[in-house]
Amino acid sequence: MARKYLIETFGCQMNYHDTERMAGLLEESGYTPASTTADADVVVINTCSVREKAEDKLYHRLDELDYQARQEGRRPLVAVAGCVAQQEGEKLATLGRPVDVIVGTQSVKFLPQLLEQAGLKPSSPPTLQRQPVIDVDLHQDVSFPLGVARHGDPVRAWVTIIEGCNDFCTYCVVPYTRGHERMRPVADLLADVRHAVDQGRVEIQLLGQIVNHYAAPDDPACDFAALLERVAAVPGVRRIRFASPHPRHTSERLIAAVRDIPQVCKHVHLPVQSGSTRILTAMRRRHTREQYLELVDRIRGAIPNVTLSTDMIVGFPGETRGDFDATLSLLEAVRFHGLFSFKYSVRPNTLASKRMPDDVTVGEKTTRIMELQAAQRRIQLELLQSAVGTVEEVLVDSTSRRRETEVSGRTSGNTIVNFAGGRELIGQLVPVRITEAAPNSLRGELLG
Ligand code: 5AD
Ligand code: SF4
Repeated sequence: MARKYLIETFGCQMNYHDTERMAGLLEESGYTPASTTADADVVVINTCSVREKAEDKLYHRLDELDYQARQEGRRPLVAVAGCVAQQEGEKLATLGRPVDVIVGTQSVKFLPQLLEQAGLKPSSPPTLQRQPVIDVDLHQDVSFPLGVARHGDPVRAWVTIIEGCNDFCTYCVVPYTRGHERMRPVADLLADVRHAVDQGRVEIQLLGQIVNHYAAPDDPACDFAALLERVAAVPGVRRIRFASPHPRHTSERLIAAVRDIPQVCKHVHLPVQSGSTRILTAMRRRHTREQYLELVDRIRGAIPNVTLSTDMIVGFPGETRGDFDATLSLLEAVRFHGLFSFKYSVRPNTLASKRMPDDVTVGEKTTRIMELQAAQRRIQLELLQSAVGTVEEVLVDSTSRRRETEVSGRTSGNTIVNFAGGRELIGQLVPVRITEAAPNSLRGELLG
């Protein structure tokens, strides 16, 4: 009988995509998916360490798996992958929790061999491994077996274009967990895109920590704007999204590409982090409040109906009430369609952890994030209400969780729209008249 695997994923889209890659690799090695941990021979936990809370989830899950194993008298092999694996390495073996394989962010492609080394040949019974097999080396080679990812979404496919990051924002752990910036060859990216289309995917989401810093190592003429054109030229690609661009690299050329390439969605997720230039400087973001606002004006001036979303951190070291008010006022000035907001959390190795005391109290961080989110809810509802009566092109991606006779999809601007329709619409781009706004989504009716 084939061995069964289960992968649990925390973190960002890049991590979810790594999970798809691991799933593909395991299936090529003869594993089949399990539906629960009780049913699995191998459990992979793909971890995130961007904030302390994300990291803590790993330890909770290991404890739960351990408890479950004791109850059932049977234990799956446990592999820890992703950013915490990279960050903690062999320390994970000394926690008194069962870990059999530790696979870093740059060793994902070796997962099947590492599992095998851990005593689990695809055909042999799982063994109780005490000393884990570890690969957290910083492999220089970013090549990955092409077309191996097992796309979890029926409609869209992620394609990682850059691994790692060289920016070293002072709060951010990513350069330490995902290593320095490495560009994948454009030939490989296009092969992945064609493969995704062959598998029926119509939306391509390009991923990189600073996705618009892309420069093809195999073609000096191919920057990020040119890459968007090349992806759009692949027959069958109906939509393109990307995450996350850095304001600093958002050139006129890129803005024009987003405007002019029909497949590129008219939505830009543009992390700002803070509205105070003083804090932005301490964060080493290399843009000011004024530069960001000016960029927003240029994007909006160039691309009609573009939507913007952002990431913000509250309670960065030294953030005063005045600095936070600047963040609030930036939120009010820009009026984002979407916001991801976070309380600052100290991360190992980062410059902030070494030089800047975490001096905003937990209570104050909570107060600030609640204020920010309340303002965002109001703005977002106003923006969504103003869409009522318009017609949007929606890419249908699922049936509604609540009703089988309803489907759900996204507008080019990335807003969720629910409307009456059958599952045969999944994967289609359809016109929908917007009839109603909810806090985080729209309702509508299918036209024609
Ligand atoms: N504390 C809180 N939020 C953080 N982020 C990154 N590092 C931290 C940290 N140490 C947020 C940023 C980033 C998003 C992915 O996570 O807003 O854009
Ligand atoms: Fe989490 Fe950042 Fe790693 Fe993504 S890259 S999994 S957000 S720590």
